[in-house]
Amino acid sequence: MQTLIEAREIQKVVANLGHQIATEYRDQPLTVLGVLTGSIVFLADLIRTIDLPLRVGLIQASSYRGATTRPLELRINDSLVPDIRDRSVLLVDDIFDTGNTLASLIDIIRHNSPRSIRSAVLLWKTGKATVTIQPDYHCFQIPDRFVVGYGLDYNDDYRHLPYIAALEPRDL
Ligand code: IMP
Ligand code: MG
Repeated sequence: MQTLIEAREIQKVVANLGHQIATEYRDQPLTVLGVLTGSIVFLADLIRTIDLPLRVGLIQASSYRGATTRPLELRINDSLVPDIRDRSVLLVDDIFDTGNTLASLIDIIRHNSPRSIRSAVLLWKTGKATVTIQPDYHCFQIPDRFVVGYGLDYNDDYRHLPYIAALEPRDL
């Protein structure tokens, strides 16, 4: 494994994003909607740097099954989403890769009549998108490597690492 982004660097950039969001969402009824499971660490750190009244909700999306790095069929469970009618929704996910997950989530969330929907991701693998949307906010752009840590997993391992590391092809 090779460390790509140190814990201290992540904390600094996440805090900057939180301050930017606090400025842009002042006087808006903000709901931060975290995508399970990969967003949990980013979500927990980000919301504590947004100095505004806000609500937190969760939605579940999974596209990886077991020991594979290729997305399989996307499954979404929106039974945990709170009432977001007329609220400004910030969808928070770990990584924007093909963009398929965020694009599908946005389509589903639209049905709940929010006032607005924007997305924030920790990582953005640029140049891989298969959809036309892009994340509204991101912390880091990364090359096309399979990464783990700070919420991201490989076969459900490594989520607890406080830094981002790239797995070597022989680890996969
Ligand atoms: P997308 O739908 O292709 O944008 O992929 C988004 C989802 O795939 C993320 O929420 C992650 O769960 C997963 N994913 C994509 N790339 C990686 C990676 O490098 N490491 C771990 N998970 C990843
Ligand atoms: Mg995920």
